[in-house]
Amino acid sequence: MISPKSIDEVLEIARIEDVVRDYVDLKNRGSNLIGLCPFHKEKTPSFSVSPSKNIFKCFGCGKGGNTAQFVMEVEQLSFPEAIRTLAKKYQITLEESFKQEINPELQQEQESLYIINQFALNFYKDNLRNNPIGQSVALSYFKQRGFLEQIIEKFELGFAFDEPDALLNKARKEGFKLDFLQKLGLVTAQQKDFFRNRVIFPIHNLTGKPIAFAGRHLTSDSKSPKYINSPETELYQKSKTLYGLHLAKKSIRDKNNCFLVEGYTDVMALHQAGIENVVASSGTSLTEDQVHVLKRFTQQVSLLYDGDSAGIKAAMRGIDLLIQGGLDVKIILIPGNEDPDEFIRKIGADAFEKFVENESKDFIVYKLNLHSNEIKNDPIKKSLAAKDIIQTIAKVEDPIKRSIYLQQSAGILGIDEVSLISACNKIIGDELKNKVFRQKREALDNDQKLLNELSSESNIKTQYNSQITISNDEFQEIDICRILILYGHHKVNVNEEMHYAEFIIENIADTLAFFENELLKQFILDVSQQISQGKIPELNYYLNHTDSNISKLALNFSINKYEYSSNWEEKHGIFLSTQQAPELNYKSDIENSILRFKLKKFNKAISEFERRIQLNEIPEEELQLELKSHQHIVNQRNYIAGLLNTVVIN
Ligand code: UTP
Ligand code: MN
Repeated sequence: MISPKSIDEVLEIARIEDVVRDYVDLKNRGSNLIGLCPFHKEKTPSFSVSPSKNIFKCFGCGKGGNTAQFVMEVEQLSFPEAIRTLAKKYQITLEESFKQEINPELQQEQESLYIINQFALNFYKDNLRNNPIGQSVALSYFKQRGFLEQIIEKFELGFAFDEPDALLNKARKEGFKLDFLQKLGLVTAQQKDFFRNRVIFPIHNLTGKPIAFAGRHLTSDSKSPKYINSPETELYQKSKTLYGLHLAKKSIRDKNNCFLVEGYTDVMALHQAGIENVVASSGTSLTEDQVHVLKRFTQQVSLLYDGDSAGIKAAMRGIDLLIQGGLDVKIILIPGNEDPDEFIRKIGADAFEKFVENESKDFIVYKLNLHSNEIKNDPIKKSLAAKDIIQTIAKVEDPIKRSIYLQQSAGILGIDEVSLISACNKIIGDELKNKVFRQKREALDNDQKLLNELSSESNIKTQYNSQITISNDEFQEIDICRILILYGHHKVNVNEEMHYAEFIIENIADTLAFFENELLKQFILDVSQQISQGKIPELNYYLNHTDSNISKLALNFSINKYEYSSNWEEKHGIFLSTQQAPELNYKSDIENSILRFKLKKFNKAISEFERRIQLNEIPEEELQLELKSHQHIVNQRNYIAGLLNTVVIN
């Protein structure tokens, strides 16, 4: 148990921008910072950080919260673990009673899994360093390969004994659950150690916690595979993991470049040569998720592959993904069949650094040359090659680079440049159309998601599945909630006692019955009740509200609000006449919001009346009166529409 005082201290000291920067490249945007969301795939940043409010919010996927919530989400930790992580970062000593800590059974499962992996890492490491067998078999193996002590330590390498249950026995003594050991793949279903007589390469997550292991056999004549890996678990998803990223992330950002190699030992060898901005895709072709992770740290990736190009051909699709992700891709080919590790050993660190500098080539140009060797004068192959290369070039974002590539392609392939350009433009045009369509859909989906989220947990699933279309009224209702949350505590006028919350509630009181969204209505009622008790709620009241729907609403509006509301107009054809960012101009934002809201409700009343007239639903004797009140509503509607300077479309 961490004391509440300590939790408060951590939450007070930890700066959201600081914490997020460990994972996301942030750029200034007004009073906020923006970057690419670490929680979902995106190409344009919709992840926003508000240093003044100490919160984050993604307008793409909807995730948001304070520093602890960010760490929980990004590292998949429980709340206490997140607090501990933050405390470590800020060197805060926590007041904590360790009673529950010792028995992992009481811990949340995920925490236990981390603890057990850390235990296994320590065990393997200890075997390698302090056990005579480990020293003579494993440590000497690494040393023979030329790896220095400091590198062996840095990568926390280890050794698994050639015994059926060395790890299992130790784990049992520590009281770890067999179930968890098996889940992590450390122990097999037959209750034997999974890694046996292998050197161990721990695989870490971004913060450097062990999430999985790879074991390399020591005898090359063995029939078993060279490497075996932990299975996928809650902690470890292969397609999202890049080996060595936790050690590389700072250097990748500093150099704005990341070397990409195939093997674990290649990563280690580069570190030993003084190059730290390196990760390995670990034998698989790059995945979209891995590209997404890389993109958070850098604009440029340099592939370091052996020269026989078999590896590159296999990796081609992944490389296209890098280009498509907007990254600059360079390629450095190592002569012969050697991998970077072997090559560095041969030529030495200094020569390697020079080699990398001199041999780095643009990937597209490389690909083009690869084609030019193959096609010779075969027209069919030529046209296929042209199609292939244009697909890649079309993914390049920078138009200047694109035109240079096209020019080069025309020369090398012997094809008219103009036709290459038009083919490329067609691909880009189609892609753009798709993109605009996707973005519109996404924007709508996001608002839908927000509204869906405003329901009780159990309702979320069913609502997601049944595609309810939200009527524009609901967006207008949300808008009212927005101004209440953001500006309710401001005085209407310096000399007056009235606050905007009272003003807003008073203005919409007569329409409460027409609220379409029950949850938003409940929210308005909650505010009304506060006001009737003489309290004027502030942002923090909403942010910390025990009703998670209300805190979600508040979070959603309390950051980067202008962006949020400004695109409503495009998204939903909703009238927005605010010229300035609302936070600078909240008086008119409030007034407009109320007017827009009323306009909606009046329009609704008008259509309802017209419907009843058409269906002859109004009794003769009431017609006169109803017509009169209808006319009154129409007049008011037109008046408001005039104020909002919008054309009324029925
Ligand atoms: P390599 O065969 O090139 O191995 O596989 P390596 O990294 O150079 O290792 P050393 O130098 O022989 O010790 C490249 C990568 O492919 C994955 C591993 O991630 C390895 O680092 N791999 C390879 C496997 O996952 N399983 C295997 O059986 C072989
Ligand atoms: Mn190798």
